[in-house]
Amino acid sequence: MATGWFETVAEAQRRAKKRLPGSVYSALLAGSERGVTYEDNLKAFAELGFAPHVAGLSGERSLSTTVMGIDISFPVLISPTGVQAVHPEGEVAVARAAANRGIIMGLSSFASKPVEDVVAANPNTFYQMYWMGTRDVMLQRLERAKAAGAKGIIATLDWSFSNGRDWGSPWIPERLTLMAAMRFAPQAIVKPSWLWSFAKTGRVPDLTTPNLTLPGQQPPTFFGAYGEWMQTPLPTWEDVAWLREQWDGPFMLKGVSRLDDAKRAVDAGVTAISVSNHGGNNLDSTPAAIRMLPGIADAVGGQIDVLLDGGIRRGGDVAKALALGAKAVMIGRAYLWGLAANGQAGVENVLDILRGGLDSAVLGLGRSSVQELRPEDLWVPEGFTRELGKIPTAPKPRSPRPAVTRDPSKPKEKVAGGSA
Ligand SMILES: Cc1cc2nc3c(=O)[nH]c(=O)nc-3n(C[C@H](O)[C@H](O)[C@H](O)COP(=O)(O)O)c2cc1C
Repeated sequence: MATGWFETVAEAQRRAKKRLPGSVYSALLAGSERGVTYEDNLKAFAELGFAPHVAGLSGERSLSTTVMGIDISFPVLISPTGVQAVHPEGEVAVARAAANRGIIMGLSSFASKPVEDVVAANPNTFYQMYWMGTRDVMLQRLERAKAAGAKGIIATLDWSFSNGRDWGSPWIPERLTLMAAMRFAPQAIVKPSWLWSFAKTGRVPDLTTPNLTLPGQQPPTFFGAYGEWMQTPLPTWEDVAWLREQWDGPFMLKGVSRLDDAKRAVDAGVTAISVSNHGGNNLDSTPAAIRMLPGIADAVGGQIDVLLDGGIRRGGDVAKALALGAKAVMIGRAYLWGLAANGQAGVENVLDILRGGLDSAVLGLGRSSVQELRPEDLWVPEGFTRELGKIPTAPKPRSPRPAVTRDPSKPKEKVAGGSA
């Protein structure tokens, strides 16, 4: 067995917690406000049951699929995340792992590694953008991604700059200066293996965002870039359609939670959406992504690829999302725990866990491919789903009430909600 191998994502998370300085672990755990959405993303998957068969199962199963025109070996994509400086090789290690397992790499614009290096590690890289900077600046970033060879764009728009968590936000330095390093040292010193992984490379964790560099300038720091983003006027649906028109290739809108928005995304010409609440990091109390998926997949799944992200920790979760209408899922923390626990091998380990668990589910459910998974394969508790932004149908004309003549010998009936 390879060194550092783990059997579940939960175990990878335990190892990550042990290995990383407290503030770094807490930055990956993230979440917002009360953590209702973060919790619900996980809890909702546990509420769904499987309906397995015992005989007549398929000896051969196909897990491969095509997402946004790209063939992948199983229906999981790397969701873009911005803090991979937790490992010296960061996004490059994740991209290599994804390439080795035949899947798509999503690269955050807040990444610690340049898009050119990441595409070299995985040609099936999608570059993620927020709506930040002027249109000219956005065009420059798109052109750079195109020149690097990125296959597609992920536009993430579900961010409302809410901050504060009941369990506290970590302190992250603007730059790893001497002063910052001294303040950070007490946490880092008790995590020798994490420190050693950087010491071997002779570099400190990189807190800049090289993909947001403008020609002739130094890469902005994470917080400098965040400031640019906060000051950018918020996008309209016309802006979304404009951005989509600038990219000649697959284009995903990530962060959709409402039916009306899903339909507007189709009108804006996107190739795919991801039903998502940003892993519970955005507006707390948004329902779990899996609860919002069935309605959205029903409404627009025939026109574009519908993906889901939020709460995927095992292969069975992938099967559940597919059965409820997702074409594929994206993962965030699951691979971050793998990366923190054991670098590239840890990410591959996580992908193998998800693939193995998905295969078991397809087997047990008596299916021979991921495309065959259906809602009947699950037990879905009553009231499980949430349909947000349903476009109201025209109200039916009300028929006049029949006149009621009360028999004075009977007691007066109670009306729900009224006072007797
Ligand atoms: C630490 C962290 C950083 C993230 N950074 C980004 C980002 O830069 N861009 C983005 O589109 N989503 C970002 N996300 C959201 C993920 O892409 C994804 O939506 C989320 O992690 C899915 O939930 P899961 O972690 O439960 O799988 C981030 C998530 C986490 C946990």
